[in-house]
Amino acid sequence: MTGNAIAQTAVERGEYIVGGIAGCGNCHTPIGPDGFIMEQELAGRLVEKNEAFTAIAPNITPGSRIASWRDEDLVRAIREGLRPDGSLIGPPMPFTQYRGLSDTDVNAIVAFLRTVPAVESTVAVSEYRIPWQPIVGMRNRLVHAYFDIDADILWVAATQEVPALLPKLQALMSVD
Ligand code: HEC
Repeated sequence: MTGNAIAQTAVERGEYIVGGIAGCGNCHTPIGPDGFIMEQELAGRLVEKNEAFTAIAPNITPGSRIASWRDEDLVRAIREGLRPDGSLIGPPMPFTQYRGLSDTDVNAIVAFLRTVPAVESTVAVSEYRIPWQPIVGMRNRLVHAYFDIDADILWVAATQEVPALLPKLQALMSVD
């Protein structure tokens, strides 16, 4: 059948990617007793609390501070984990998995994010009890290709191995 390639707008494509493979709402949409609270889609929630960090996925609806970010800022945040002020977005935001998104797809995600209902709420700020910024600072040097080191390996080290080591290090360092 001809003509079945129904034109898909960027927003539709973005909705499809966000709700599907990218799964942004899995972390960013609040959960209530009956599951995801879709009236507050992408309004933020506590994602993970462990010894190494308390990770809170922020509100990323147009009611949040990202409303003032330019499209290219959001693209960089999604693909590189960097905010406009240059600070790093912490784990478990999986930007290493989004790094390969094409310009078309990442721009579609941004277009969709601009259309979700604005929720005017602020969730608390994440707390990282590991020296997260220096670790990622090192990662950035490596990623910017001074050495040919696989950033994904480093990412696993920073998000899983170092946190797992933390209690042991603390036990080693405690003097009683
Ligand atoms: C596995 C959980 C997870 C998934 C999936 C996820 N995020 Fe995040 N995201 C986070 C966490 C946690 C933070 C906050 C980290 C911090 O506090 O440094 C974050 C931060 C952000 C920020 C920075 C917001 C700000 O105000 O600083 C943006 C933008 C963002 N995510 C967009 C997205 C988009 C778009 C997707 C889907 C393409 C996505 N995230 C998928 C967990 C996730």
